[in-house]
Amino acid sequence: IGTDDQEARFRESVHLAGEVTAQPRRTTERAPAPEAFTNAIDSDPALEEVRAWAAEAVGAAPARLTSPVLTSTADVDGVVRLARDLQREWAERPAHERAAVLRRAADELEARRTVLITQAAHEGGKTVAQSDPEVSEAIDFARYYADRVAELEPGASLHTDGARFTPAPCVLVAPPWNFPVAIPIGGVLAALAAGSAVIIKPAPQVPGCTEIAVEAVRAALEASGVPRQLVQVVRTDEGEVGQALVAHADIDRVILTGAAETGDLFISFRHGRRGGPGVLAETSGKNSLIITPAADFDLAVGDLVTSAFGHAGQKCSAASLAILVGSAGRSERLLRQLVDAVRSLRVGWPDDLGATVGPLIEPPQDKLEMALTSLEPGERWLVEPRQLDDSGRLWSPGLKDGVRPGSWFHRTEVFGPVLGIMRAATFEEAIALQNATAFGLTAGLHSLDSQEMAIWADRTEAGNLYINRHITGAIVRRQSFGGWKASNMGPGAKAGGPNYVAQLGDFEPDGLPA
Ligand code: ALA
Repeated sequence: IGTDDQEARFRESVHLAGEVTAQPRRTTERAPAPEAFTNAIDSDPALEEVRAWAAEAVGAAPARLTSPVLTSTADVDGVVRLARDLQREWAERPAHERAAVLRRAADELEARRTVLITQAAHEGGKTVAQSDPEVSEAIDFARYYADRVAELEPGASLHTDGARFTPAPCVLVAPPWNFPVAIPIGGVLAALAAGSAVIIKPAPQVPGCTEIAVEAVRAALEASGVPRQLVQVVRTDEGEVGQALVAHADIDRVILTGAAETGDLFISFRHGRRGGPGVLAETSGKNSLIITPAADFDLAVGDLVTSAFGHAGQKCSAASLAILVGSAGRSERLLRQLVDAVRSLRVGWPDDLGATVGPLIEPPQDKLEMALTSLEPGERWLVEPRQLDDSGRLWSPGLKDGVRPGSWFHRTEVFGPVLGIMRAATFEEAIALQNATAFGLTAGLHSLDSQEMAIWADRTEAGNLYINRHITGAIVRRQSFGGWKASNMGPGAKAGGPNYVAQLGDFEPDGLPA
């Protein structure tokens, strides 16, 4: 699972699931009817075995949850005390031993790939095409952070003269439900790489995924004689006990991935605590992709649709807006391709291997419900979203035109399968529209003009910039992932990149004064 392999696997699984129908080729003819491809999947006997496995996977009994539920602040104190007790011995281990545990964890995760995919389908409705690369990402985190361990040692590259790295003794990881394997396990592995003990509180929708993934890490710890409780999985309510955990004075760092509102809440819980908040949060996004007249429209449409509707748009990185510049905004061909591509997306539960858009985590509420069912002045549906079954979770994707600058949809993260189109008269205006949100997580440009690329890369206010590529699916080591502006709360080094592990501790002066 090298980074190239991961991308190849991603491409392969995307192809398997039929997402290729969203990428009409550049011809003077209309793109072939998308049904041709999905029908081919339906009738291919070679896929029968895979299909049977997928059906079994989705119907499989969920993992039995074994993590304790903390019901009092005394329970929280006990968990934190145990973490700090076990951490000392772990931090004293030589760097190469800690790195070896992480590399072993990568193998243990690989060995659990199928069960992780199964559980993600079962608990979170995640399609195979989405969760397979997610498992690869978790494995990549393990190998990448293993490589970072040695850099914390005195004399290594991150080491400033006379400074010694001291890990944060106890790290709390609070992951989201939308990446139930890679995000939780990325946090756990970074903390272990630093030399910290970890407490992880899984997202309540997907605790089984996190338990299985943590079990892989624990197997690696135990194989090296490290107590498995160095990583503790706990569940709590969202009330007093959950707050006590987040606010605990002896939890030194909190790694949060979630909505900006949750980030604000966590920071408020930890204000007044000795040492301050210590929160590393990657939060919401309102991400857009600019398409200029110099773009390859065929590529742009494919990447836009992948970015907007993968995992039904339930990614902090997802594209929520397309900003069409000048004549690109007047191109009937571009609009028609986009409409065709959106219409071609097959929606289904994860046992339908032809489905590229899976279910929502729950029936839409609040912002998402508003985005799926209403329009603001000036907007019109090019493809109107529809609820497809009684569960309320299956929605066909929506595409709306005419999103106005400063409107609610321009500014608000909705986290679901709706893509809006905005127009900009000039490239400068497009960049201004892209930057005119509180957030700055991902941003995309489709243009083959190198001058536009350079200007855009210089001016765009987002943590992750992608040129002529989809804007989701950052690859560990190659595209470290994190936000800017209100998409980041904390020191800001990005996950899967340099310095991330070093944020989980402090460099302190060591040795005699000069
Ligand atoms: N890391 C995830 C992505 O890049 C959120 O899509």
